[in-house]
Amino acid sequence: MKVIGLLSGTSVDGIDAALVNITGCGLETQVNLLCFETYPFPEGIKERILELSSPEAGRVDQICHLNFYLGELFAQAALRIMERGGYRPEEIDLIGSHGQTIHHLPEPRYEPALPPQTGFLTVKSTLQIGEPSIIAERTGCTVVADFRPRDIAAGGEGAPLAPYAHYLLFRDKVKARVVNNIGGISNVTFIPAHAEPNQLIAFDTGPGNLIIDGLTNQLTQGKLSFDLDGQMAAGGQVHPDLLKWLMAHPYLKKSPPKTTGREEFGGEFLQRLLKKANEAGISPQDLLATATAFTAESIADSYRRFLLADRRQSLTEEGSLELILCGGGAKNKTLITMLQKAFRSESISIKTVEDYGYSSDALEAILFALLARATFLGIPSNVPPATGARYPVILGKILPGRNWKSLGYVS
Ligand SMILES: Nc1ncnc2c1ncn2[C@@H]1O[C@H](COP(=O)(O)OP(=O)(O)O)[C@@H](O)[C@H]1O
Ligand SMILES: [Mg+2]
Repeated sequence: MKVIGLLSGTSVDGIDAALVNITGCGLETQVNLLCFETYPFPEGIKERILELSSPEAGRVDQICHLNFYLGELFAQAALRIMERGGYRPEEIDLIGSHGQTIHHLPEPRYEPALPPQTGFLTVKSTLQIGEPSIIAERTGCTVVADFRPRDIAAGGEGAPLAPYAHYLLFRDKVKARVVNNIGGISNVTFIPAHAEPNQLIAFDTGPGNLIIDGLTNQLTQGKLSFDLDGQMAAGGQVHPDLLKWLMAHPYLKKSPPKTTGREEFGGEFLQRLLKKANEAGISPQDLLATATAFTAESIADSYRRFLLADRRQSLTEEGSLELILCGGGAKNKTLITMLQKAFRSESISIKTVEDYGYSSDALEAILFALLARATFLGIPSNVPPATGARYPVILGKILPGRNWKSLGYVS
């Protein structure tokens, strides 16, 4: 199947579009990346998306409008990646679109049941926008979108969804592996050697680039949106007291399954951090170095707490653990040096997905192509131990395209 995967992540740095050819099933699945691009958003759109993501500033009329506008942008990204690969829409079987998360509330809230029933209903929620009907209309292709809600309906947190792809692409018969995607948020999937899907452990470790990006933007008065190669952080000193304060964040101690986002580590958290740094007279470079150390230390801490603690024995039996990095944060050299230092005493070898023949930038978009195909074929693709769902479910909503009949569905 020729499938396109589309997403914009927590970093809101643009729309990732991957066009892949997928063959085989289960652990025999083969993914061949035909082309990949990140299409940056038009000027000012990132700011508008961030504004909508905030409970104080997000206006419902703007959310309504931006849902459809982002749908147009995602559709353009799909058409561009087809053109780039030299394919016509008729040659594309499916498009999988994650959309743009503007809010994620995985903590249960309790609401009254419909009268006359007494008692409470448990409600968790998530909201991705980028209307898939627009993508289906503009491209004519069948679209699978909105993957997270079904997992929530099955009792999960709707995230992380990456373990499905990490398992298919990186599970090994003899080696234990951890795939760590450092996007805006950092998420890990631990895959024991010879693992069955129910043996995976996956969760968000905490911030990836989110705080680093936010600080860079503030400290450069909006001139830079991220710390290129970690250069600014490299010129600073980590401030031990501030790092200690950051490491005391309650999210880090929470046991998996757990996921997080801008709600916990976004704008509000950034303002508190800036205030603290200001009071302590910490220089911008030292602050960035400390924020980068927070990402590295929180990743290392979560491995020690949740991955290595009970498994050290089995890991040594299996040999060392392979840590496979992906996402934009894998390009931050200062962050990688700090990670290497944090793991010095563990038998962990640090690699990138490039070492396995995959593109680090494209991996998340490839995930949504794989998820779309799984849905289309009727294969459940959430990983219950990762999301906390009670059982496996087929994710997403299908929007039939003009190719619906050629896919085997006769009206
Ligand atoms: N060369 C680089 N040096 C440092 N950081 C980088 C570099 N390239 C990308 N990044 C970081 O990666 C982020 C984008 O990562 P990505 O994996 O797309 O995250 P998301 O899935 O949240 O969109 C950027 O915002 C930036 O922080
Ligand atoms: Mg991105």
